[in-house]
Amino acid sequence: MLEKARIYEKEKLETINFDNKPKFHMSSPIGWINDPNGFSEYDGEKHLFFQYNPFSTDWGPMHWGHCKTRDFVKWEYVPAALAPDTDADKSGCFSGSAIENDGKHILMYTGVREAKDGEKLESYQEQCIAIGDGLNYQKLEQNPVITYDMLPKDSIVADFRDPKIWLEGNTYYCVIGSRNEDGSGQIVLFKSRQLDLSSWEFCKIIDKSNNEYGKMWECPDLFSLDGKQILIVSPQEMEAEGYEFHPGNNTLCIIGDNNGVESEFVRTSAHAIDYGMDFYAPQTMGTSDGRRIMIAWMKSWENDVFPDDFEWNGMMTFPRELHVRNERLYQNPVEEIEQYYDVSTEVKETLENEKKSFNGIHGRVADLTLEISNILCSKFKINVAENDKYVSYIEYNPAEGLIEFNRSYSGIRKDCVNSRTIKVKQQNNKIKIRLLLDSYSVEAFINDGEQAFSFLIFTDQDAKGISFEAIEGSADILVDHNTLKFSD
Ligand code: FRU
Repeated sequence: MLEKARIYEKEKLETINFDNKPKFHMSSPIGWINDPNGFSEYDGEKHLFFQYNPFSTDWGPMHWGHCKTRDFVKWEYVPAALAPDTDADKSGCFSGSAIENDGKHILMYTGVREAKDGEKLESYQEQCIAIGDGLNYQKLEQNPVITYDMLPKDSIVADFRDPKIWLEGNTYYCVIGSRNEDGSGQIVLFKSRQLDLSSWEFCKIIDKSNNEYGKMWECPDLFSLDGKQILIVSPQEMEAEGYEFHPGNNTLCIIGDNNGVESEFVRTSAHAIDYGMDFYAPQTMGTSDGRRIMIAWMKSWENDVFPDDFEWNGMMTFPRELHVRNERLYQNPVEEIEQYYDVSTEVKETLENEKKSFNGIHGRVADLTLEISNILCSKFKINVAENDKYVSYIEYNPAEGLIEFNRSYSGIRKDCVNSRTIKVKQQNNKIKIRLLLDSYSVEAFINDGEQAFSFLIFTDQDAKGISFEAIEGSADILVDHNTLKFSD
């Protein structure tokens, strides 16, 4: 099956028009992709695997696709790594993670299989290992290495997926998404002493939803950062809560005291990770230079905005460096993007009841930072991907402290979620918004990464306008716009 996928993707890739692809965001080679998997360093390169159905632009038999990069900006596709082709994973190689140890690249993933329980056909999700060299991966004969019967008794065995593995001394640990019999999510911790990847034991439940933050918790990640312990989960079936959580699939950052992984996880706060329409299943990696970098699927299960005539469906966010400050997860694009800056344009102006665009500030691929100060208007708007027909905008309402982003007029033909509003802080009558634009996407970082939101726009690429607008009053703006160049 893996060979079949590799031959198919190779042939198809030769026919794909790469001009239609994002310029610095990792996107699906062909077919469908969802969650990032196995985000890790191996042999001096950064590897990223992903949930992958090469044969169709819809979700289907889950393979692991594979790509790598040296700088998080330029990505190279590598032949698919895993196919659902053993007894332990016949119904899918679901999400998981990777780690390098002793020259080996170790993948840990969820194998899904169907088996008869009496007369009933049940689906089981269990954890598997594959070991490789950056190109080819051998699944362990002992798979699955963590089975459903190792879960605590009050767990629902049908939902047990997305292991995130790491190494501490001579012990491998992993956290896995699970569901309690109360219907809501919990994150379980397993360990394997003496570096034996085939004998794991259950340690404890790290944290559970108790029906507070949605139902099943998918794609967990656990790491320490800036003196805190961070648990990341992707809850399903959340209810809306003020401006913090929207209905459906969300992403949640739970911050706790850093007491060591086997001690009690004591929550100190929790908040959404990204407030946009298109962000799910984030995963992090620790780099050899000491950074914690996060990447996510830039899409959502509930709003599939990809045009039906595309031969590929799915892309990732740009990798973000994480920090914790004042009980918040700060996110900013990795600094490597700056190596690709080409033409920089700076503008300092006061806008009063007017809409303005500036020479040099336009285009669909850019890194733009806007600082708005002396804000004496009722609304301030940034329009992107604009022409006579189309626009997407980010509108700031200073009195309410709200930012609305809206893609209703981006040329979208689907009646899905097209706008959201978030609560933001203004410091000293100032607000800072950084936008990463890349062909089909907008990622925004507010106040140096205190909040982020991501959304896709499939607007005609000819709509290149960027404009700024002070409504009912005035505001000072400082714009720093950088075009990006990827080849000579
Ligand atoms: C999250 C998820 C995971 C699962 C994978 C299947 O988006 O539902 O829980 O492993 O996608 O493709």
